[in-house]
Parts: sequence; structure tokens; C-alpha cells
Amino acid sequence: MRRRIIAANWKMNMNIANGSIYLNNLNKLTSIHRNLEVIIAPAFTLLHPLSLEIDHRKFSLAAQNGYFKDQGAYTGEVSFAMLKDLVKYAIIGHSERRIYFNEDHQMIRDKVAAATRNGIIPILCIGENKSERVANETKKVLSDQLTSALYNLTSDEVAKIVIAYEPIWAISTFGGEIPKPTDIQKAIDYIRYQISELYGLKIANQVRVLYGGSVNSNSVSAYLALDGCDGALVGGASLNYLEFSKIIEKGYLIDKLG
Ligand code: PGA
Repeated sequence: MRRRIIAANWKMNMNIANGSIYLNNLNKLTSIHRNLEVIIAPAFTLLHPLSLEIDHRKFSLAAQNGYFKDQGAYTGEVSFAMLKDLVKYAIIGHSERRIYFNEDHQMIRDKVAAATRNGIIPILCIGENKSERVANETKKVLSDQLTSALYNLTSDEVAKIVIAYEPIWAISTFGGEIPKPTDIQKAIDYIRYQISELYGLKIANQVRVLYGGSVNSNSVSAYLALDGCDGALVGGASLNYLEFSKIIEKGYLIDKLG
């Protein structure tokens, strides 16, 4: 059975004091659930202090990025080799990194491989932008992003990966247009189909697929109820611990109903 995930992507927010207070508060509102994994992805600076403070039975940590070389003269970079003692997961290929930091297919492929060889599970973000959607190119974009990112992995490594379907046009809309659950269902089905074509059905059924894009405590249940949707990657709504605890609560509820 695939363990469901509710993940918080804090992006470039929170200092050590804010992050620590937040997790202290969230901890009080959260219990341990066998079938639901809560992942927090703070900035690099918070990973070490939070790793010492959090209850690891309740929360797992993720990096928001990492560099694909293990060490060397790469001023300002942090490698997955350095992160492996701190995190279980790493977000790779987020659209903000693809757009603002020019991360291309090759770099994302190298990052996925580097995280994997260092024992870190990639949360690979894929998704189309608005014009690609309008041009009916969503499947092609998903297929290109998936095929290239997973290229250097073995089937067993692919089985462990987490994929987040994040249509770029639906990220941080603050009340704007978001995809219909039926559209997300189509994308999730297509992602699994594509993985089964490349690595076989058994592997495709082990991969966890999340939805991300303006998820909040009102919308999350509809996504979690989709067939084959294993959770959510939450940005803006994860910055408030009360709101995020409600999202986690909806994750527990789905389990009870399911
Ligand atoms: P959002 O961000 O929930 O603010 O849309 C999601 C993400 O970028 O991972």
C-alpha cells in the first residue's frame, strides 16, 4: 500500500525562530498516523535545527533543492551528499527552479540521480504552463519531463520516487483559476501510464503521485479522493500551522473513510 503524503513547501519563508515555533505548535495539533506521512520542506538554514527538534515519528524533512555534484568548488551550493543526514526527501524540478534558476531537463536528471545515490527520495515536480495547456500539450510536457528526469534510475529506484503534478498556472493563484479534479485525475492517470510504459505496471503502482497548486484546507479533500492521488504538496497554505494542521486532518479523514 502506498503511504499518503501531505507535504509543506515553505519556499523562501521562515527563519529559525519562526520555523521552530511553527513546528512546536503543529506538533501539538498532530498525531502519529501509520498511513499518512507529513513532510516539511523548509529552507536549508532550518534543516539542522529542525532535525534536532522535531518528532521524527510525526514529521519527515525535505530539502527544497540540492546540487548534483557531491562536493567541490561550487561556491554557494549544497549537495545531496551534505543533506543526506538531515533529510529523507528533496523537492527537485520545482517550476520556480526551472523558471527562475534555468534548471533544464539535464540538470534535473542529474539532481534526481544525485539525490537517489545519496539515499534521498526525490519529490519530482512536473507540470505544464498555461500556454502548453491551451495548446493541448500537457501530456507531451509530462512525458518529456518524466522520461528525462528518471532516465538514470533503475526500476527499483523509480519505485521509491514521489512525483508531484503541479500545473504551473495553478501555483499560488490566491483564489484564481485552479484545475478541475477531473483534469488532475487525467494527469495522474497519464503519469502512472507513462511510468508503466517505461518501467512496468508493478513499479507504476508503487510510485506515489501528489497534486500541488493552490491547495488549501477547503480544496484538499477533493484531490485526495481522486483515484491514485497519494497526497498533496502545499505551498502558501502551509505557512500557517493552523491551516496546515487542517489539511493534515483531511488526510487522516480520507484514510478513515477509505
Ligand atoms: P502553492 O504552491 O500551494 O502556493 O500553489 C505549491 C508549490 O509550489 O509547491
